[in-house]
Amino acid sequence: MNKTLEGVPIVSRQALAGLCLGFIALSTPVFAQCDPGEILIRFSHVTAETGHPKGEAALLLQTRVNEEMDGRACMEVYPRSQLFNDDDVLPAMLRGEVEMAAPSLSKFGAYTPQLQVFDLPFLFEDILAVEEFQNSDAGQELKESMVDDGLLGLEFWHNGMKQLSANVPLVDPADADGLKFRVQRSAVLMAQIEALGGEPFPMAFSAVFDALQSGDVDGQANTWSNIYTQGFHTVQDGVTETNHGIVDYLVVTSVEWWEGLQPDIREDLAQILLEVTHERNRFAFELGELNKIRVRQEGATIRILDDNEREAWVSALAPVYDQFRDEIGADLIQAAQAAEGGI
Ligand code: SIN
Repeated sequence: MNKTLEGVPIVSRQALAGLCLGFIALSTPVFAQCDPGEILIRFSHVTAETGHPKGEAALLLQTRVNEEMDGRACMEVYPRSQLFNDDDVLPAMLRGEVEMAAPSLSKFGAYTPQLQVFDLPFLFEDILAVEEFQNSDAGQELKESMVDDGLLGLEFWHNGMKQLSANVPLVDPADADGLKFRVQRSAVLMAQIEALGGEPFPMAFSAVFDALQSGDVDGQANTWSNIYTQGFHTVQDGVTETNHGIVDYLVVTSVEWWEGLQPDIREDLAQILLEVTHERNRFAFELGELNKIRVRQEGATIRILDDNEREAWVSALAPVYDQFRDEIGADLIQAAQAAEGGI
């Protein structure tokens, strides 16, 4: 045991496989049966429902709400973009068509420039640094940065560090020159690809596999858990372990719906969500490592950068900071840089 999240020990690599197998076995989907009179809470997300940090957290939340708030509230989780994709879910929430979601932090650019801080390249050394920043005053304030637009952040959920893949080997930043990369709809992520001489293509998560397979785009950037559960590695030349960014989530709701809940319902839901967040966030790293092992076991090439190679990617992406410093805020960037995590 070497690192901790909120004081909770993270197990060693040796315990990984057993821990994750048990973890997944505990998370069998429980489908909601809403009774008349219960408040319906529809939770929409885009990833796999099991074997994935967000999917597993959403399932546990559903199970606990339906057991502990039976008769008062009822949660239905819709994974794999079944209800909405990430481009549509926030407008739908403001229209009252869904109550909760956990979009990637890269999907909030239309509502607040501040959350773009999480998209800056090589800002966080690891997910513990992300956690430390999110728990700081500056990080917690971000949850309320969209209240004027009608959205309220409740908790941050973890996925992991992002890796880069393409239909050609990527070792030097020049290898990305001229390639088309799928990105999330984020100005900072688009600027990163442009800094490499590539062409960014924003598209919904649900469309990425087909775009990679057909060759509409050459590459993508995502976490081990997203790469494995979507099968991206099966239609790419390999995956380069760049750890150049993060995919993390904000569990979000509409201010109007949240404030319209009876106080006891709101308090119980917030407490269950907090406990689920603590319980599941500490497993996100292990699940990512397990999914990396699975990617390798399925025969994909994983390229590890040496220090000089990594430094070349850091330098190539550094100009992105100058492009977005004023918009995001120099103080906020500094607060994020100060988070040391597990280093
Ligand atoms: C997600 O993890 O929710 C989606 C990330 C992406 O769009 O790449």
